[in-house]
Amino acid sequence: MRAVRFDEYGNSEVLAMVDLPEPVPGPGQVLIEVAHAGVNFAEVMFRRGQFPVGLPHVPGLEAAGTVSAVGEGVTGLRVGQLVAALTLDGGGNAESVLARSQLVVPLEGDLAPLGTALAAAALCNVTTAWGILDSAARLRAGESLAVYAAAGGVGAAAAQLARSLGAGHVLGAVSDAGKIPAAERHGYDVVTTYDDLPEAVADRTGGTGVDVLLDSVGGKPRAAATAMLAPFGRHVVFGNAEADDVTYDGNDLWFSNTSRVGYNLGGLAGSRPDLLRRHLEHALRAVADGVVRVELTELPLAEVRQAHRRLESRASTGKYILRVR
Ligand SMILES: NC(=O)c1ccc[n+]([C@@H]2O[C@H](COP(=O)([O-])OP(=O)(O)OC[C@H]3O[C@@H](n4cnc5c(N)ncnc54)[C@H](OP(=O)(O)O)[C@@H]3O)[C@@H](O)[C@H]2O)c1
Repeated sequence: MRAVRFDEYGNSEVLAMVDLPEPVPGPGQVLIEVAHAGVNFAEVMFRRGQFPVGLPHVPGLEAAGTVSAVGEGVTGLRVGQLVAALTLDGGGNAESVLARSQLVVPLEGDLAPLGTALAAAALCNVTTAWGILDSAARLRAGESLAVYAAAGGVGAAAAQLARSLGAGHVLGAVSDAGKIPAAERHGYDVVTTYDDLPEAVADRTGGTGVDVLLDSVGGKPRAAATAMLAPFGRHVVFGNAEADDVTYDGNDLWFSNTSRVGYNLGGLAGSRPDLLRRHLEHALRAVADGVVRVELTELPLAEVRQAHRRLESRASTGKYILRVR
């Protein structure tokens, strides 16, 4: 089968098209003939060695296509079924990928209209956005929210899902004012640059601060987060795109009346796959029902480098997916 692989860490040039043997599903796994696979910022971080994955590595944390083989003990899935799967061990940027059956959702019934392109575009980003709002931030109706990387895949979904939960003010922030129009399409009340966000938060909340702040960026925006939170506000940390973390004192939470909470798909897959499955199903339904509209750009598998370059250079908005067959 054709697959994308990197044998060393580095820039997008390390991504190569290779021929590999078809994997064979083990107990509890299914093999999926991939029609579409998503590209995530996490795969950029893996490729550049920010979080070393074993080498060689076939990237791809999400894929949608047709079940082509079923491993021992798998129930409820069958050969020929159209499915969407979180493939959190990687491998989705290939003609076939193995997936844990618990994280494979049939594209049937209400989910049938999704199709493989939209499903692949929704898997990681919309699941993460929903899991954050529902289980990490526990956003309630009327609460205000600020989102960093507001024009990106997770950011776009978070704004729309927050609206569906009855959020109050929804603010977004981006690195470059040129991205503001793209972010505004996702239902934010206001989108600013990171530098201008503290003033916009103060303005919209009468100086109180936001109840929830979503931070996948790190660096200077992370350091600025606590000061923008309302009393009992939640700073949700779920990425570090800047590769620049912040160190806090434990007493900081006490002095600031705030909390810090994380969300991690991979960790949840290990500790609470049942809860991750619920987040995943909710996310796919939200897209199928039109609650979340995903703006996607589709490229052929062999052009994976272009998707990485766009994400890494901060030039991307919305979601990039790869057409595999
Ligand atoms: N914890 C989890 O389980 C989980 C799951 C999915 C995603 N994530 C994280 O959520 C974030 C969004 O993921 P995504 O796939 O939807 O990506 P994305 O938001 O479409 O793209 C990443 C965005 O990060 C921002 N960014 C900040 N500093 C950057 C830097 N130094 N280089 C490049 N980009 C930078 C950019 O937006 P601006 O230019 O506007 O800042 C960029 O557009 C990522 O950080 C990802 O790692 C975490």
